Amino acid sequence: MGLSQRATDSAPSVVRRKRQKKTAMSVFSPPQSCHSVEFSLISDPTAVQLARRLVVEWFRHWSLDEALIEDARLVASEIVTNAIKAKGPTVRMRIRWTPPHAYIEVYDQDPNPPVRQAADPSATGGRGLLLVEAYARRWNHYPAETAKVVWAEF
Ligand SMILES: Nc1ncnc2c1ncn2[C@@H]1O[C@H](COP(=O)(O)OP(=O)(O)OP(=O)(O)O)[C@@H](O)[C@H]1O
Ligand SMILES: [Mg+2]
Repeated sequence: MGLSQRATDSAPSVVRRKRQKKTAMSVFSPPQSCHSVEFSLISDPTAVQLARRLVVEWFRHWSLDEALIEDARLVASEIVTNAIKAKGPTVRMRIRWTPPHAYIEVYDQDPNPPVRQAADPSATGGRGLLLVEAYARRWNHYPAETAKVVWAEF
């Protein structure tokens, strides 16, 4: 039993009620019917951590398999990092659950396509898309009004 749990157990009931209310307001509880969500991400490395957390929360909300969620977390990391490194100030991410598959789609404003590099043990970079290919069911890109979308399917 952790310290905070012990403190809560001995707290007067009125304090306990207040704590419960605060927790309930901050909990992630979107409507069940929500199967597609979109986020604007700032073009900054902190966005990568946020993107990972969003993917995990939403995929768990849709009761997807934990092993699949772990794969999706890694893929989101790579695709969003690439989008942030690409040209253009805007990065948007859409997460979709279209049974039986879930999708991560990342929009950026660089018209250049992602190019998977050949596996080279001596290279210091160029592994991101190799990981995407290994952990996503499928992935690809297409042009969009904002320049392009890179997507991955799970
Ligand atoms: N969203 C993108 N927009 C434009 N070019 C991209 C994008 N994603 C990837 N690329 C191109 O594809 C190449 C390969 O991407 P990959 O993620 O495999 O490697 P990297 O980003 O160069 O290195 P690493 O991911 O290992 O840090 C990149 O170097 C870049 O030229
Ligand atoms: Mg990369």
